[in-house]
Amino acid sequence: MEGANAAQAEFWNDAGGRAWAGAHAALDRQIRPLGEAAMAALVPRPGEHILDIGCGAGATSVALAERVGPRGRVVGVDISGPLLAIAEAAGAAIANLRFIRDDAQTHGFDHGAFDAAFSRFGVMFFADAVAAFANIRQALKPGGRLAFVCWRAMRENAWMHVPLMAAMPHLPPLPTPDPDAPGPFAFADAARVEAILAEAGFAEVSIRAHDCDIGGNDLATTMALMLRVGPLGAALREAPELAPKVEGAVAQALAPHVRNGEVWMPGAVWIVTARH
Ligand SMILES: C[S@@+](CC[C@H](N)C(=O)[O-])C[C@H]1O[C@@H](n2cnc3c(N)ncnc32)[C@H](O)[C@@H]1O
Repeated sequence: MEGANAAQAEFWNDAGGRAWAGAHAALDRQIRPLGEAAMAALVPRPGEHILDIGCGAGATSVALAERVGPRGRVVGVDISGPLLAIAEAAGAAIANLRFIRDDAQTHGFDHGAFDAAFSRFGVMFFADAVAAFANIRQALKPGGRLAFVCWRAMRENAWMHVPLMAAMPHLPPLPTPDPDAPGPFAFADAARVEAILAEAGFAEVSIRAHDCDIGGNDLATTMALMLRVGPLGAALREAPELAPKVEGAVAQALAPHVRNGEVWMPGAVWIVTARH
């Protein structure tokens, strides 16, 4: 893998991409309400051309294609081959939807091609976020809209924090992450996000906290997700022999959060909007 985001490209085409691809339906169920909140902020309109950044397995691209209708057009861009393979299968029969496999930070989008750009958790992985958003901005028409959803701090996101804390005593010390390094929580600091967007040339930046319980999967499915993706997934790929102890501790921590057979836990995000 080469290029500005070589490390992320490797992750999303290898272990990370495979983990997400194997669990994409359950992951989509879990984060769908948060994507819907960002889409409500975007207000996609019939006939519009919309870019879906880091579209992954394509669920939001399909939803956007329905919203813009046959006169509109949606392009999903992602660096992950395994996830785009699922997106392409899902979008095969949708005439106004297509996918590009490339780095959104450097892809040569036609200037002014899109009315709006959207992302559900696909914009926190850029090595140079200012360059990436400047590239996305020039793909927008003057006045074009940007809306995305990203995670607030991990400690506010019980859906990840609770299982991780339960697993910690059974894992070797986890590396202390650089809070600004590319990764799911890289945009937790709203002031940083605002500065990145301003430096990239965006105007009318709005960053609003949004809280809601997320989940909707049964305990076994939620367990499989938690042990596969995020920091726990990474730790267990390094030391799979620790899985049995970790599984027991995580199951115990999740059990109090089961409602009507489904796990639901607090999620905390920023809904970010801006204009070209
Ligand atoms: C957390 S997943 C979210 C996927 C999808 N938006 C969803 O909500 O299901 C992050 C996605 O961003 C993609 N991604 C990471 N860095 C990227 C980059 N530089 N350019 C394009 N896509 C990128 C990954 O391949 C992955 O599909």
